[in-house]
Amino acid sequence: MLDKSYVVPWEKRGSLSTDAEAAVLAELVHESTPLPAGTRRERFEHSFAESVDSRHAVSVNSGAAALQLAIGMLDLAPGDEVIATPQTHRATVQPLLDHDVRVRFCDVDPTTLNLDPVALEALITPRTRALLLVHYGGCPAEMDTVMALARRHGFLVLEDCVHALGARYRGRSAGSLADIATFGLRNTRTSTVLGEGGLITCDRDDWAERLYRLRAHDPDARTAHPRPQPAGLPGTAYAAPLRDAGSRRLPGRDATMPEAVAALGQAQLAWVDTAGAKRRALAGRLDEVLARYPFLTPQSAPAHSTHAYHLYTCFAEHQELRDRLVLALDRRGVEIQLRYFPQHLLPQWRHRGHLRGECPVAERSWFESQLNLPCHTQLTHSQQDYLIEALDGSLAELNGTPTAPAPVPAAICGGA
Ligand SMILES: Cc1ncc(COP(=O)(O)O)c(C=O)c1O
Repeated sequence: MLDKSYVVPWEKRGSLSTDAEAAVLAELVHESTPLPAGTRRERFEHSFAESVDSRHAVSVNSGAAALQLAIGMLDLAPGDEVIATPQTHRATVQPLLDHDVRVRFCDVDPTTLNLDPVALEALITPRTRALLLVHYGGCPAEMDTVMALARRHGFLVLEDCVHALGARYRGRSAGSLADIATFGLRNTRTSTVLGEGGLITCDRDDWAERLYRLRAHDPDARTAHPRPQPAGLPGTAYAAPLRDAGSRRLPGRDATMPEAVAALGQAQLAWVDTAGAKRRALAGRLDEVLARYPFLTPQSAPAHSTHAYHLYTCFAEHQELRDRLVLALDRRGVEIQLRYFPQHLLPQWRHRGHLRGECPVAERSWFESQLNLPCHTQLTHSQQDYLIEALDGSLAELNGTPTAPAPVPAAICGGA
């Protein structure tokens, strides 16, 4: 009898992958320096920046916090337009609700679920100030095309790399492909830490300096969009505090990465390539099963890229098939989750006039065809074998050629 702890769970159980991480934690327990004053955060920032070919990495306490602060660097002014993907977690676009800007959701390519460059070009106007994209599931977006459009039309690009630690595009790391990038570390990711963490990477010294202040609760005093001062301002006594009274300021927040998270992040950096290779190996086995069934197609990736496989995504020919496959896998103890509900259809965006039909490819994907299979590094070899057989068995059943069910492995969790 299977319980709902699943034979093949969707996400990792536990946060640690290697003994080196446990040793790092044991060291912290006996630390005599007060943890908030420790040096591990700075060391991790250095190593992380280097690992993704970026000049700066500013650590924060979640991927969502990283996005909120990074979006602040775009200096959005009222009336600006921001183009964004709808195929993402709400954390990517939600900070835009705090800015008085027009958000234009851009449809995605049906084979990658990354932004469709043709749809993108059609949305660019003289008011376009920034683009927010995601390397969906760890599959690198076509950055050459995107960045060429950005440079030609003069807008900034933020790459949300929360799925893409370890991904590469034309040999370059995700996180160094645009103007600014964000990462998130937590249980489902390649670097899992204990709880949550995030980083912002960029090459600009002035942005790094502002980000360090903002994440430490220091309001951003920079006058990004100065407006004329009201006439008759008092002179000497009040001049300094009122100097930027008419400008936009960003409030700081306490978003500091805990020292223990930095220590674990540092230890896990050595594991990123191994984790990526493990995820790609499992993805390759899933691809082989799918190749036998023409009604289910795996996500494709640009040939000149390295997919991080945060998500393994595939597309069913139609909704009934997708739904039956999800149920068949669930019955066999394989946990399936669907990622992501189109952002423009969430209430907070519908209130701003966004409607069904705005991004038909993203909508069709969610409502009719897309599903994600478990693809993470803590599946044991026997769990992986079971997943492959369960997938094959479910697809054979849908194909009208059922096979004998695979035996459930004795141990259903653990590291491999
Ligand atoms: C694409 C994307 N961006 C941002 C986030 C938020 O990151 P975090 O959960 O680390 O705060 C998520 C969360 O799943 C995500 O999937």
